[in-house]
Amino acid sequence: MDKILVTGGLGFIGSHTVVELQNEGFEVVVIDDLSNSSIDVLHGITSITGKTPIFEKLDLKDKSKVKKFFKAHQDIKGVIHFAASKAVGESVQKPLMYYENNINTLVYVLHEVCNLLEANVIFSSSCTVYGQADVMPITEDAPIKPAESPYGNTKQIGEEIIRDTCNVVQSLKAISLRYFNPIGAHPSAKIGELPIGVPQNLVPFITQTAAGLRDCLSVFGDDYPTADGTCIRDYIHVVDLAKAHVVALQRLLKGQNKSNYETFNVGTGVGSSVLEVIQSFERVTGLSLNYKIAPRREGDVTQAYADTTKANLELGWRAKSTLDDAMKSAWLWEKHIRNL
Ligand code: UD1
Repeated sequence: MDKILVTGGLGFIGSHTVVELQNEGFEVVVIDDLSNSSIDVLHGITSITGKTPIFEKLDLKDKSKVKKFFKAHQDIKGVIHFAASKAVGESVQKPLMYYENNINTLVYVLHEVCNLLEANVIFSSSCTVYGQADVMPITEDAPIKPAESPYGNTKQIGEEIIRDTCNVVQSLKAISLRYFNPIGAHPSAKIGELPIGVPQNLVPFITQTAAGLRDCLSVFGDDYPTADGTCIRDYIHVVDLAKAHVVALQRLLKGQNKSNYETFNVGTGVGSSVLEVIQSFERVTGLSLNYKIAPRREGDVTQAYADTTKANLELGWRAKSTLDDAMKSAWLWEKHIRNL
């Protein structure tokens, strides 16, 4: 049973990945500083899988503690590195915090990983690295445009740091997974997304509006050059995304990687408009959502959806859930946390 470290393992995507790893028989060690997550998530994971991962509350910005942790866990066979801050707007206000949280921690973890006998790393990246992509669907060799926020820049720099290290450390193998828009929750409704404050992302805003926490969803712009005028994104069910991590990790553990640094898009390959997401929510819940058309949000791109051919062919992975499945699970989760 291979031991896998999951940093940020109590977060939204991290927790779903821990569940899938445990379901596949991996022994999981979770590091989380609980800065944007709750210890209750550990109970959710246990209740779904029947197993409690080893948990260490640790701030990865503390280099000496990171060193000490790895000394005690030299048998780790792979690291899935999620731990990072992810709010675009906040990153514009607090760039140094983002560079410290997202870059320093990655460097400290990589330092230690390079000393392990088996150095396999999966990095939590984002389609944000493509910036304003010109051609749809987006392939992995689309140009990396200048980042649009410090957050986006940390993902670009993070990928470069890993690539440069892979160039010289022969034992290191890494994969960056570039996520499109992760949504939904575990179908058990025992784990899901826990936004702090007013959600910035579409789906938690929809479910909180339906739950009565928000009065009305603002649809940011209906004058884009798309069929219904609203922006198009590639929404991927978080369980499908979690499974992509397991498959990518197994690729490295089995030595099936083609080079020691690889990148893969993780999306569905299907673009959905904001209005289509709302319609899906209304269809699966039977509810009518209170929404209005509002001005465009600064920084939004008209459309972004993945070409998933590389992940489909090389990882043998494909997203299985539909938008309806994801919206249904997001609503079950919202009802669970609000006791509805
Ligand atoms: C956002 C981030 C992106 C990050 C991704 C991860 C920004 C500008 N981008 O992407 O860097 O990688 O989340 O989840 O924050 N919408 C509304 N009303 C709302 C909220 C959103 O109409 O209240 C629309 C947006 O205009 C957009 C779509 O819904 O067209 C999706 O928005 P969101 O969930 O914020 O995701 P992204 O903007 O794609």
